[in-house]
Order: sequence, then C-alpha cells, then structure tokens
Amino acid sequence: MNRSFLFVPADSERKLEKAGSVGSDALILDLEDAVAADARPAARKLAAEYLQDADNVWVRINPVNTDAAQADLDAVMPGAPFGIVLPKPRSAADAVLLADRIEVLENKHSLEPGSTRIMALCTERPEALFTLDSYIGATPRLDALSWGAEDLAAATGAVANRDDDGNWLPRFEMARSLCLFAAAAAEVAAVDTVYTDFRDLEGLLRYASQARRDGFSGMLAIHPAQVEVINAAFEPTAEELERAARIIRLFDENPGAGTVGLDGKMIDRPHLVQARRLLQTKGK
Ligand code: COA
Ligand code: MG
Repeated sequence: MNRSFLFVPADSERKLEKAGSVGSDALILDLEDAVAADARPAARKLAAEYLQDADNVWVRINPVNTDAAQADLDAVMPGAPFGIVLPKPRSAADAVLLADRIEVLENKHSLEPGSTRIMALCTERPEALFTLDSYIGATPRLDALSWGAEDLAAATGAVANRDDDGNWLPRFEMARSLCLFAAAAAEVAAVDTVYTDFRDLEGLLRYASQARRDGFSGMLAIHPAQVEVINAAFEPTAEELERAARIIRLFDENPGAGTVGLDGKMIDRPHLVQARRLLQTKGK
C-alpha cells in the first residue's frame, strides 16, 4: 500500500533528479497545474525520459476532455507509467474515457493490457460531488481516489478552504468525507490531499495521523520534507498492531461469541473486521 505520493513538476530537471532519493512510496510527475502551458512540451519529454527506468511512477495528465491530455498520454505511455492521475473528472465517465484511451496506447506500445492504473481526483469540480457513486465498478483500472480542495474552492468562488487554525471548512471537509466513502464503496484506496504549508511538519504530522485514523491509506505530498512524516504517520503504531492481534485472538478463543470484552470495552464484528484489515495492510 502506498503511503506517500510525491508530486514532482515534470518541467523541473532539478526536482526530477532529487525525487527518486527522498523515500516516497510513489511519485506523481505533474503535467497539469504545476506546469505552465508553454512548458508542457518540454515537461512531456522529461517525464517520458524519467519513466524509462522508473518504478511506481504515476503521471498527472491534463483534464481528459482537453487536447493537452491526449498529447500527455501520447508522450508518456511508451514509458509504461505505473498509473495516470486524472484531474478534474466530471464523473467516473471521465475515468472510463481515460481507460479507453490508455487501452489504445497499451496496445500500440505492446504493454500488458490493463497494467496502467488510474487515480481520480474525484472532488475537483462541484458537479462531480453529485456523481461519486459512479466510481463503483466503473473501470478495473481504478486503483485510488483522491481529492482536491484548491480547484473546488476556485470553482465555487470560495476565498478560503481552511479556517484560521488550518482545519478544513465544513464544505471542504464534506468533499473529503465523500471521497473517503466513494473509495470505500468502489473498493479502492483513499488518498488524502496535499498539505500545502510545506514548512509546517508538525501540523502535517497531526493532519496525516488523523487522515489515517479516518481511513485514508496514504496522502499526496508536494515537498521532499513531507515524505518521511507522511510515511511515519501512515504506519500503524505497535500498540495498534498489538491490540488488533489481541482482538483476533479473543474471537479465535471464543468461536461462538458475537461480542467480547477487551480492557473494559465492548468488541464486536466491526472491530474484528478492522483488526484484520489493520494486520493485512501491514502485511502488504
Ligand atoms: N520534488 C522533488 N524535489 C523537490 C520538490 C518536489 N516536489 N520540491 C522541492 N524540491 C527540491 C528543491 O528543488 C530543492 O532542491 P535543491 O536544494 O537541490 O535545490 C529542495 O527540494 C528544497 O526545496 P525548497 O527550496 O525547500 O522548496 P522550493 O521553494 O524549491 O519549492 C515548491 C517549493 C512548493 C515550489 C516545490 O516544493 C514544488 O514544486 N512542489 C510540487 C508542486 C506540485 O507539483 N504541485 C502540484 C500538485 S498540488
Ligand atoms: Mg489542481
């Protein structure tokens, strides 16, 4: 399971050079918002070169209904990216459209059919929020859903998306929750969005720990310094693992029991499911 996904603007040779050595589980070479339109052709070339000897490297293309998106795909697919990050989908229909285009290029470049994965940034447009159930069973390429608050703020005319303490304002927290539920319903990973204040590593640790508590399995990063913090936050603690093992043992020892007591608290089926999931993700 990927804990960290570091965004790297694909027009920056310096950042591309650095990206592989910072310990991120996955990288996302960005061809969209972090790259100016004029710089795109050069960025596509650099991304394609980078992919030649890369593992678990994703590429964020431009929105699928733009000409730029097709040029992005044409440039990077020969390098067999691990996956494509899809920005601003209107609904899962855009992920399906992307899947179709990927399929054509996989054939053309003799890549294994179905090998290229998709992560959709599913909340960047207001209309998309009303269609999130469309990701259920939409395409077998879908690996993850993530979300974004910046484009959503711009689209709705909001001048801020966080309060003075850095917490999401309610409507953005709602989008975050919807992404989490949609990912669970579609049985794909839920990846929390970027923490833009990249000098505030303490705030990031608090944020990422809460994200894991809430059910996200990883998080997007924008700066090398964030990677180690995110990786640590998404590792279950020794106490959590130990408690999960105790819950499983208790149910094993009481095969007929629907509910058992542990340290003065009621434990039932959902806790067993959670405990198994915790130990399973640990094993991946
Ligand atoms: N990937 C790889 N290397 C990165 C990096 C990234 N995302 N962000 C910074 N670095 C490198 C810098 O090049 C610098 O390396 P150097 O010391 O060899 O020059 C080092 O890490 C320290 O960077 P720093 O000076 O602290 O930050 P910065 O001012 O250069 O960059 C940002 C700040 C936000 C512009 C930069 O982190 C960035 O481009 N992030 C990604 C943005 C993005 O992709 N956004 C789209 C998704 S929201
Ligand atoms: Mg954006």
